[in-house]
Amino acid sequence: MSRIYLSPPHLGGRERELLAEALESNWIAPLGPHVDAFEAELAAACGVGHAAALSSGTAALHLALLLAGVEPGDEVWCSDLTFVASANAAVYCGARPVFVDADPTTWTIDPALVAEELGRAARAGRLPRALIAVDLYGQCCDYERLAAACAEHGVALIEDAAEALGASYRGRPAGSFGACAVLSFNGNKVITTSGGGALVSDDPELAARARFLASQAREPAPHYEHAALGYNYRLSNLLAAVGRGQLATLGERVAARRRNFAFYRERLGDLPGIAFMPEAGYGEGNRWLTCLLVDPEAFGADREAVRRALEAEDVEARPVWKPMHLQPLYSGSRTLGGAVSERLFALGLCLPSGSSLTEGELDRVARIVRRCHAG
Ligand SMILES: Cc1ncc(COP(=O)(O)O)c(C=O)c1O
Repeated sequence: MSRIYLSPPHLGGRERELLAEALESNWIAPLGPHVDAFEAELAAACGVGHAAALSSGTAALHLALLLAGVEPGDEVWCSDLTFVASANAAVYCGARPVFVDADPTTWTIDPALVAEELGRAARAGRLPRALIAVDLYGQCCDYERLAAACAEHGVALIEDAAEALGASYRGRPAGSFGACAVLSFNGNKVITTSGGGALVSDDPELAARARFLASQAREPAPHYEHAALGYNYRLSNLLAAVGRGQLATLGERVAARRRNFAFYRERLGDLPGIAFMPEAGYGEGNRWLTCLLVDPEAFGADREAVRRALEAEDVEARPVWKPMHLQPLYSGSRTLGGAVSERLFALGLCLPSGSSLTEGELDRVARIVRRCHAG
């Protein structure tokens, strides 16, 4: 039996053809027609006007903060429960990340806590420059409430939709919230370019500025002229060709991941002590990863015992993200709340969730988890 991975790449039908076309036309790098087309297709998928294709989601986050005017000494508030890249972007700008706890009903940033704490920060005269809201495991944050709180206090809202392409919030696609949003095409995401990302926005100037900064801030001149500090953050034409092939499959990929979730819930939902990540009533997640909580008392085994049982049978599962405030890197950082994300980390497990999983493989995973309960 072969190993079952957490979230491996899943090729569609057209990547090879598009890649071959890029090679044959000699549009290898740096940019080229596939980058332009990929940007147009991404913007359409996110329901916004513009996209800048970049080398990673991390690069997109860095640019998003720079474009929000984040400067050394500023505070940037960020979901506590996330992958470290969300917070690192603040540090790249010389800013201080402040972590905000999760809402137990959605696992995304707690909008009531954000509103309350922004009010308190305003009264103390120390508002953050920006807030990074992470669409966790492919579930959108509560953007109506976050946007209202941020607008009231003049804080830039940035949507980290790295995990959420194909999800929606009140009928609007992930990637369409805040001043701009960030996507990732890292190898484990719903679609991949092997490595890559994008900044998407309705603001044409913001997208143009992102492309400019991502190309070493090269001014339009025949020689190399630079007035601003830039970065080498653009996506190559070859990878954009792969991305176009992948993006064409997005609907099917999301449907497959949601099917994985439904299968696991059907097979494991009756077990005592097992609770799946809830779906917020305001939208439809892409179920990038199927996550569940294992209550050791009720289930009879803890999260790590389940993970180890899976690993012993060559099945890759991972604990839910370790909250930023527990990371040694961020041990001194200010945290607003934190108990919810600590509990989700202590009990949470991500099951194999790739869109190419067969029913036989899903069944293999479910049987191992069930067996942990039986003892
Ligand atoms: C929430 C979140 N933000 C940012 C990133 C960074 O994206 P990338 O790996 O493309 O730099 C990731 C994943 O990798 C992520 O899961």
